Amino acid sequence: PAPGWAVEADVVVVGSGVAGLTAALRCQAAGLETVVVTKARLDDGSTRWAQGGIAAALGEGDTPAQHLDDTLVAGAGLCDEDAVRLLVTEGPGAVRRLIETGAHFDASEEGALHLTREGGHHRRRIAHAGGDATGAEISRALVEAVRARGLRTVENALVLDLLTDADGRAAGVTLHVMGEGRHDGVGAVRAPAVVLATGGMGQVFSATTNPSVSTGDGVALALRAGAEVSDLEFVQFHPTVLFLGPDAEGQQPLVSEAVRGEGAHLVDADGTRFMLGRHELAELAPRDIVAKGIMRRMRERGTEHMYLDARHFGAQMWERRFPTILAACRSHGIDPVTEYVPVAPAAHYASGGVRTDSRGRTTVPGLYACGEVACTGVHGANRLASNSLLEGLVYAERIAADIAARWESGAARARVPAPVPHPERPASPLLAPEARLAIQRIMTEGAGVLRSAASLGRAATRLDGLESEARESLERNGKTAEPGVDTWETTNLLCVARVLVAAAALRQETRGCHWREDRPDRDDTGWRRHVVVRLNPDRT
Ligand code: SIN
Repeated sequence: PAPGWAVEADVVVVGSGVAGLTAALRCQAAGLETVVVTKARLDDGSTRWAQGGIAAALGEGDTPAQHLDDTLVAGAGLCDEDAVRLLVTEGPGAVRRLIETGAHFDASEEGALHLTREGGHHRRRIAHAGGDATGAEISRALVEAVRARGLRTVENALVLDLLTDADGRAAGVTLHVMGEGRHDGVGAVRAPAVVLATGGMGQVFSATTNPSVSTGDGVALALRAGAEVSDLEFVQFHPTVLFLGPDAEGQQPLVSEAVRGEGAHLVDADGTRFMLGRHELAELAPRDIVAKGIMRRMRERGTEHMYLDARHFGAQMWERRFPTILAACRSHGIDPVTEYVPVAPAAHYASGGVRTDSRGRTTVPGLYACGEVACTGVHGANRLASNSLLEGLVYAERIAADIAARWESGAARARVPAPVPHPERPASPLLAPEARLAIQRIMTEGAGVLRSAASLGRAATRLDGLESEARESLERNGKTAEPGVDTWETTNLLCVARVLVAAAALRQETRGCHWREDRPDRDDTGWRRHVVVRLNPDRT
C-alpha cells in the first residue's frame, strides 16, 4: 500500500530487542539520525523472555578459543568459523559495554560475575541477571538508555516492505502503525540504511517459547525484497519447556537450561536418568542431542513428556536462583521444590535467517540484519545455548560501526534516496488471521522436531492450499479493505513456513536440530553446505 506519511532519517532500525536497541544506540552515538520502529511496545519481543543468560569467556581460565570450540561442536559442522571467532573474541567486551549501558548482572559482593553452565558449554560462562530473568534486565537497561538519550521511536509499527531506490539499494521501510497519533495508518521511514532486528519466527509452530509477536516478519520482508535467506531448516526445539498438555498452543513457559546447569536431572516417570551414557555431558549435551534424547525416551515409553528433577535444590535455591521459573511452575500447580517438573521440547529459536556477512550486510545493499532474524553463520545447524543475546550484541555493534564508517567515507551520505515505486506486482494474497492456527498445526505435524520426506510433502501441499485459497478469495472479493496487523502477520507466517518446509525437504540428512526420520545420519559428503533461498523480488 502507498504510504500516507513519511519520516526521514539516516538509519531506521526495525525491532527493539537486544540487537535492535544496541544497533540504534550505537548509531545514535556515532551521530547518525536514528529511528527505531517496533511492532508492539519497546520491550515486547523475545529478549525480555530470555532466561539462562548471555555466554562469553568472562571467567577465570576461560578463553575465547574454548568458547569457539564449544560453539563449533554444537553447530554440527555448519558454523562459519570466522563469524564465530568474531563473536567469541568481541563478546566479552560487548558484555562489558552492556554493563556500562546499565544492565546489572548477578555478581558477588566483590563484583565478580556469577557464571552458570548450559548445554554444550564445557565451562561456566553464562552471565545472568535476576537469577533467571536475564533478558528482562537487558531489555530494561536498553529501553531506559533509549529513553534517556532521546532516541526517536515509533511503537505499534509493523514493518511491511523494504523501499528501494533506482539502483536497488535500501531506501527505507513501509509500516502499518496503530494508535500512535500522527503516525497512524500506513506510512514510511525513508533512510539509506535499514537494520532488520525483528527477531524470530517461533509462532510458525503450535507450541513455542516465543511471544506472540515472533511471526517471521523480517525474514518475510527480506524474501519479498529479494535478499538471500539461509539455514531456515535449522529450527531449534528447546528440550525443556513446561508441558501443559498435548493441545497447549501459543507461548509456553521455558525451564531454562541453567536449571540443568546447576544440577537438575532429566528423568522418566520411573526416575531413571536417561541422558546418562548418551553423551559425555549427559543432561548438558548440546541442545539438539538433549531434545532428541527426550523425544526418543518419550517414544520408548509412549508418553507425551519427560521430567526434570531439581527437588534437591531446596526452596531457598529455587527462590533465589530461579524465581521466574518457580513462579511459572507454581502458577500451573506444579511445585518444583517437592515434585518432578513435566517437560517436553517446543520450538525456540531460528538458527537460520537473513544471510549476512561479518558486518551484518545482507545481499541487498543498504539492508542489514542482526539478532535472531539474521544468519551470520555463527550458529550453524544448532545454536549453542546463550549465544543468541551475545550474537545480537556483537553483530549490532558491527553493523553500527559499518554504517558509521560508510557515512564517514561519504558512501552513504547522499541523504535520503527517493524510493522508486515497485513495478506493478500481482496483488498480494493476504491471509485471513484465522489461517494462523492452521499454519501452526500443519508445521507442528509436518516440520516439527521429527520430519520426513512424507511429512514435509504433506505440509507443503497443505500450505500451498492455504495460499491458493487466499489467492482465490482475492480474485473473488478484491483486496482486503483495511488489513490489520493479524492479517500481515499471518501472511508473513505462511511465507516463512513455505520456505522453511522447502529447505527442510531439500536437506536429506539429519544434522543439528534438523532431524529427518527417513535420513537418520549426518552426511558430510553431500550436505556440509547451506540451503540458501532467494525469491524472485516480484513474487508476492
Ligand atoms: C535457556 O535459558 O535455556 C535458553 C537459553 C538460550 O536459548 O540460549
